Amino acid sequence: MGPTADIAVIGGSGLYALLDGATEHMVETPYGAPSDPITVAEVGGRPVAFLPRHGRDHRYPPHLIPYRANLWALRSLGVRQVVAPCAVGGLRPELGPGSFVVPDQLIDRTSGRAQTYYDRGAVHVPFGDPYCPVGRRTLLAAAAGRDVAAVDGGTVVVVEGPRFSTRAESRWYASMGGTVVNMTGHPEAVLARELALCYTSIALVTDLDAGVEAGQSVTQEEVFRVFAENTDRLRGVLLDAVGALPTDRDCPCGHALDGIKTPFPLP
Ligand code: ADE
Repeated sequence: MGPTADIAVIGGSGLYALLDGATEHMVETPYGAPSDPITVAEVGGRPVAFLPRHGRDHRYPPHLIPYRANLWALRSLGVRQVVAPCAVGGLRPELGPGSFVVPDQLIDRTSGRAQTYYDRGAVHVPFGDPYCPVGRRTLLAAAAGRDVAAVDGGTVVVVEGPRFSTRAESRWYASMGGTVVNMTGHPEAVLARELALCYTSIALVTDLDAGVEAGQSVTQEEVFRVFAENTDRLRGVLLDAVGALPTDRDCPCGHALDGIKTPFPLP
């Protein structure tokens, strides 16, 4: 019998560890190994798992992250609620570096990524609202409790990367309703939904994307530096939020597969 956890945090660029006094577990899945061993520790009396999305040494670029293995491994540990911080570029001038957004929508502009577990059978999960409403409320309250201003709602445009966007692409993403842009929000969100997990993101703006400010363009150095400057604030919000997530799931996420016959049992 391995460890169990009911909540997981998937850390983004610059957040490679979260939990003190954690035990470390390598989990195998039908989709290979996750990005890194998973660490488990108690937060507020509840067992919480942590997985660095890119690996602790950032060896996986966004388009090569083993997303299916990551979500499968977490579910196999017992996880049902996932909190997923990420670095994003702002698509609106008012969303400068250091801003936080708790998104409520996404637009998928990735290509070629494995984005489903269901290559057999008829499994079509609802995805109109990609993020857990209870998780979103909990994260917003945790941010408010620490005086961290977080925008309630916004659309993440998820690009394939690994390059940043051109100015024209960036302006187009803003014109089609995008609030922020990143490279990892998809297929992570939909794979969580396909496993009937709650999934909530908190986006830390590390830069203004290329189309927002004439004369500037995003650099990797800027993204990592701004993330590092804000890691302490983010860590506090995350730990408060996981401690406050309700144990009973009263949201639609757990019902995503109701009435659907999956071609294999879920872990
Ligand atoms: N992650 C952080 N900043 C980004 C940007 N401007 N574009 C895509 N991904 C990002």
